[in-house]
Amino acid sequence: MSIQELCTVRERQALNSTMFALTMEAPRISAAAQPGQFVHITCGEANLLRRPISICQAQDGLLKIVFVVKGEGTKWLSERKAGDVLDILGPQGHGFDMDALGAHPVFIGGGIGVPPMLLTMQTARANGAQPSAILGFRNRDAVILEEDFQALGTTYVATDDGSYGIHGFVSDVLGAHIEEYTSVGCCGPKPMLRALASIAEEAGIPCQVSMEERMGCGIGACLVCACALKAKDGETRYGHVCKDGPVFDSKEVEW
Ligand code: FES
Repeated sequence: MSIQELCTVRERQALNSTMFALTMEAPRISAAAQPGQFVHITCGEANLLRRPISICQAQDGLLKIVFVVKGEGTKWLSERKAGDVLDILGPQGHGFDMDALGAHPVFIGGGIGVPPMLLTMQTARANGAQPSAILGFRNRDAVILEEDFQALGTTYVATDDGSYGIHGFVSDVLGAHIEEYTSVGCCGPKPMLRALASIAEEAGIPCQVSMEERMGCGIGACLVCACALKAKDGETRYGHVCKDGPVFDSKEVEW
C-alpha cells in the first residue's frame, strides 16, 4: 500500500560531488517500508514527474534516501535543506524476499546500487541472520556508506581502479568467498547483476537482483524499464521494473 506523506527534511549531507543523502521525518512511510522498495518524490514545480529513489534506511520514523544528481529533478532535490517539506509517495515496488536468505546472506551493491542494500542488510540482521556485504565503486572518491555497512557485518569494498580497497569487481570478491554464503541479494548495473547471478547459480544458492538502475519515471509512464522475464512455459514475457520489481529472482530474468 502506497502512502502520501508531507515530510520535513531533518538533514542533508553531500556524500561527494554528485551524491547526496536526505533524512526526512516520514513516520508512516518508514513504518511500512520493506527492503528493496523505493519512494516517489516531487522535485519542485518545474519537474512534473516524481522521481523514484530507493530507500536507504527507514527507522524511528525517519526515512533516508541517497541519490545521484542526474538531471533537473535530482539537482533540485540536492538543494533541499533542513526544515524544507517534501511530498513523498511510497513505499513502492516489490522488495527483497527476506524469508529466502538463509543464515549467511551477502548483500552486494554497485555504485548507486549500494544505498538500498543498507536497509536490506539491517533487516536481515534484525531477523537473526549474519549478513556480509560487498560494495563496488569506480574509485576512492565514489565510496559511500562504508562505515554503516561495517557496523552490520563483514564488508568488502572493491574499486574498479584499485584506488581504494580491493582492486577489482564485486564479482571477483563474491567468487572468492561464495562458499561462506547462503544467498545473494544485489543491486547495480545489469552486467554486474548478470555476473553475480551466474556465480550464485553455479554455487547453487538463491540470488535476488534489484534492477532499479533501469527505472525512469517509476509509475509505468515512460516504459524505459521494460525487462525480459522467463514465463513458466519457457517463453519470454515482458515486465516492468517499476511495477513488477525492482527486485526479481535472478532465475526469472532473461539475461
Ligand atoms: Fe517508467 Fe517503469 S520506470 S514505465
